[in-house]
Amino acid sequence: MSTQTASDSRVIALPDAAATHGLGRRLGDRIGPGDVICLSGNLGAGKTTLARGAIEAWMGRPEEAPSPTYTLVQTYDGARGELWHVDLYRLKQPDDAWELGLEDAFASAACLIEWPERLGGQLPRDRLDVELKPEGEGRSASLTAYGAWRAKLGSI
Ligand SMILES: Nc1ncnc2c1ncn2[C@@H]1O[C@H](COP(=O)(O)OP(=O)(O)OP(=O)(O)O)[C@@H](O)[C@H]1O
Ligand SMILES: [Mg+2]
Repeated sequence: MSTQTASDSRVIALPDAAATHGLGRRLGDRIGPGDVICLSGNLGAGKTTLARGAIEAWMGRPEEAPSPTYTLVQTYDGARGELWHVDLYRLKQPDDAWELGLEDAFASAACLIEWPERLGGQLPRDRLDVELKPEGEGRSASLTAYGAWRAKLGSI
């Protein structure tokens, strides 16, 4: 948990929702326990769409993946272990996140975090940040890799 300098980044064009879902699937194929992906972007940016792609890849089959807007966390048991899909939009204060067991999940599960800003900077140092922004009718994804993620960025 410390401030990091960006070491590597790239931008990927996502012309439609299928492209966002596809980027999620590629990420879901490449993650394992202990991997953390932070998904930021405004309301409707495509964070949950990307997460659903990653969940589908993690489970190896299409999966009904409800947005964890109200439950804050949805977990998925796949062949590679547990995946946490987290939406912190409704988190009242950063410390409440630890009651969810998030710190343990960072270590033992693969984690997809929507609204990571709600943690007030208390994020793992090894992580992939994905920022989604409007781009014409579609979106763009800016990926910033920290720590071990740097070596994986080129293959996404
Ligand atoms: N690349 C894209 N181009 C156009 N539309 C997209 C793209 N990616 C996702 N969308 C669409 O944007 C809408 C919002 O997506 P989504 O629910 O994933 O956003 P979100 O970031 O999770 O929003 P929230 O912050 O409210 O949870 C959906 O209708 C989805 O199909
Ligand atoms: Mg969402």
